[in-house]
Amino acid sequence: MHRIHCSQVRCLLLLFVLFMLECYFGLLVNNNATKPRKIYYLTTDKNESHHEQVYYKYPLINGEKVAMDYNIGYNSSYDWFMAMKKFFKNIGENETVRYKKNTPNCKLDTTTLGPIKVLKNKTNLEYVEEQNPHVLLGGYYAPAHCRSTYRVAVIVPYRDRKDNLAIFLRHLHPLLKKQLLEYRIFVVEQHGTEKFNKGSLYNIAFLETQRFGSWDCLVFHDVDLIPEHEGIPYSCNQHPTHMSPAVESFGYVLPYKLIFGGVTALTPQHYRLVNGYSNFYWNWGAEDDDFYGRLESRNITVSRYNSSIARYATLPHNCTKMGKERALLLMISKIRYQKEGLSTTIYRLINVTEVKLYTHIVADVNPTKMKLDMKSLMQRVLSLYGQTIVYGHKEFVLSNPAKFERI
Ligand code: BGC
Repeated sequence: MHRIHCSQVRCLLLLFVLFMLECYFGLLVNNNATKPRKIYYLTTDKNESHHEQVYYKYPLINGEKVAMDYNIGYNSSYDWFMAMKKFFKNIGENETVRYKKNTPNCKLDTTTLGPIKVLKNKTNLEYVEEQNPHVLLGGYYAPAHCRSTYRVAVIVPYRDRKDNLAIFLRHLHPLLKKQLLEYRIFVVEQHGTEKFNKGSLYNIAFLETQRFGSWDCLVFHDVDLIPEHEGIPYSCNQHPTHMSPAVESFGYVLPYKLIFGGVTALTPQHYRLVNGYSNFYWNWGAEDDDFYGRLESRNITVSRYNSSIARYATLPHNCTKMGKERALLLMISKIRYQKEGLSTTIYRLINVTEVKLYTHIVADVNPTKMKLDMKSLMQRVLSLYGQTIVYGHKEFVLSNPAKFERI
């Protein structure tokens, strides 16, 4: 009896010591609530041996690296990203400016802003680098003598337009500097040969730019549009803004009233509120019309810059094919947006690198090949018979959806 009692005491003592050790070092209990899990491999790729090379590993604050995993317990890359966000190491910190307490706020003298002479001739990145020595690694800049009012992420969806990109950067960097902005240019490139998906690229960029600190303003920018005036504000006001009402290829007139493509500026809050862009628009067009529908659904007023200043030259490029399902998708854009968009984005990050003039995000859009279920889409459209719907820039009663199939 006495011996049993002693071993119980010893046991209790041992347990107490272990408990103290655990409290102090956190060694014994797998504390999932506060620590990230260690193994985050994608399992969609059949060739397991490729994991190490192909998948980007996110650096964490504790020095570890993890690859994205949306298959185990997460519905989408978004879910995974948001769960992991607090563990990510902030990148680009070396370039981020740290102001002294007494640094004054920047005051932009708008009278110094004038027309830009657009140069469409071919150039190369080395030349643009030489011309813009102020730009730091990753396409980052912040004025040294004053504290900028806005921290702006310029997001450029990209694939296979090297010539356009060099011309774009040649014009953008001097303009953003002149506007006394703290900014970083992100080029988000779609990897592989899958059809182009601009909406998904925007969602991916929205997430990945958060690893570079927080942003006051996101400017979504087509690579083939070159600003013609230094006075086009590359910052956000209280409304999502359509920055490119006067585009050269449209004869500098607004092609339709509700257009929200080309160049736009939004706060991250507005972007989140509408659940970002739809991931369902493959190939060219309509993802921006869908986005406009999302803003309308939330009663968010859109502003538009004045056409006399907000003029953009267009660079030539090969046309991409028009998406087939766009008409049907647009019809139900407003009832779809909460369930599909930023929150359902699925991607595989291939790499994020800081090159001299921009931060390069390369991602595989929807590696699971999320395809539209056309049958249920059609059923959904048919269920709206007789209701008022919006198709692109027009509003009308849906009576014969068949006629839109050709669009
Ligand atoms: C497309 C939009 C595009 C606009 C201007 C529309 O028909 O759906 O995506 O921005 O034309 O080119």
